[in-house]
Amino acid sequence: MLAYIFLILLAHPFGVIPTNTTTTNGNKSIFILAGQSNMSGRGGVVNNNFDCYIPPECQSNSSILRLTKGLSWEVAKEPIHQDIDYYATCGIGPGVSFANSILKNDPNIGVIGLVPCAVGSTNISQWSQGSFFYNQMLNRTRAALQGGGMLRALLWYQGESDTLNLEDAELYKSRLQKFFTDVRYDLDTPSLPIIQVALTTTLGPYEEEIREAQLGIQLPNVRTVDANGLKVGPDNVHLSTSAEVQLGQMLAQAFLEFGSDPAQPHNFLKG
Ligand SMILES: *[C@@H]1O[C@H](CO)[C@@H](O)[C@H](O)[C@H]1NC(C)=O
Ligand SMILES: *[C@@H]1O[C@H](CO)[C@@H](O)[C@H](O)[C@H]1NC(C)=O
Ligand SMILES: *[C@@H]1O[C@H](CO)[C@@H](O)[C@H](O)[C@H]1NC(C)=O
Ligand SMILES: *[C@@H]1O[C@H](CO)[C@@H](O)[C@H](O)[C@H]1NC(C)=O
Ligand SMILES: *[C@@H]1O[C@H](CO)[C@@H](O)[C@H](O)[C@H]1NC(C)=O
Ligand SMILES: *[C@@H]1O[C@H](CO)[C@@H](O)[C@H](O)[C@H]1NC(C)=O
Repeated sequence: MLAYIFLILLAHPFGVIPTNTTTTNGNKSIFILAGQSNMSGRGGVVNNNFDCYIPPECQSNSSILRLTKGLSWEVAKEPIHQDIDYYATCGIGPGVSFANSILKNDPNIGVIGLVPCAVGSTNISQWSQGSFFYNQMLNRTRAALQGGGMLRALLWYQGESDTLNLEDAELYKSRLQKFFTDVRYDLDTPSLPIIQVALTTTLGPYEEEIREAQLGIQLPNVRTVDANGLKVGPDNVHLSTSAEVQLGQMLAQAFLEFGSDPAQPHNFLKG
């Protein structure tokens, strides 16, 4: 891990690299994608091989960019998390489906910039303020904003790793609430829209505790979409490609319901 951080520092002495503005639009709508494997994407992955099937809803579009590990923009092409979540084989996630759905519903939104940050198997403690994944997410988001644009929302799908023991499950609500509050504070976006996914059918025994924690979050501008009913793939652990497509569309719907200017008080909603 240390050698790895050292490499990053060598490659980017200031942690943030200016983006190539000749290829990017200065008014991007920027979205953070964070959490565990179902956000990263394992759709179409069987025995550590991605089947390379990219459904129509997840096709690339020149208006949908993603921030690479090297902090430059490129046209998003599934699997969009592979250079960030390189610990595993990535497949289809909800991100590109989300972006295509937004574009379809709001053609005037302009360029969408996705900032993949999710990493499989991570627990909420590994996302706490000051942790590696938290800092990586902040750094990537700040780099994304340097090319111009507005941070529109955080999409968050995590919790499975915290269903394994009772203590983590009991502490989940306060940890999650602190995580959301810290992200907003550190990115200087106090009313940043957050769309989280409520878990179902977890591997660990404490699904109900985590679900209740998620549904009980008492922060403004947090919306929840429910993974209940979404199908898992042949590995029995991860959402299938079609479920990820559907999840992306649900996240898009939730985002669009915030309205065009979520920072305004009339959209100040409890989720
Ligand atoms: C984030 O950026 C800071 C400041 O440039 C740097 O010191 C740190 O190593 C970076 N952390 C990660 C995890 O990228
Ligand atoms: C920016 O992108 C354009 C078009 O791909 C390329 O021609 C140019 O060399 C790039 N500039 C830098 C500084 O990378
Ligand atoms: C990109 O998205 C826009 C808006 O939905 C659509 O009009 C266009 O056909 C798409 N382009 C491609 C190559 O799919
Ligand atoms: C930037 O994008 C936002 C959201 O799509 C839009 O409301 C605004 O008018 C755009 N601003 C400029 C200067 O294009
Ligand atoms: C979270 O995961 C890390 C890495 O697997 C582990 O070291 C740590 O004990 C876990 N923390 C909690 C509170 O479960
Ligand atoms: C992915 O989501 C499905 C559907 O909710 C769930 O059954 C599964 O446990 C999740 N897997 C992980 C690793 O989060």
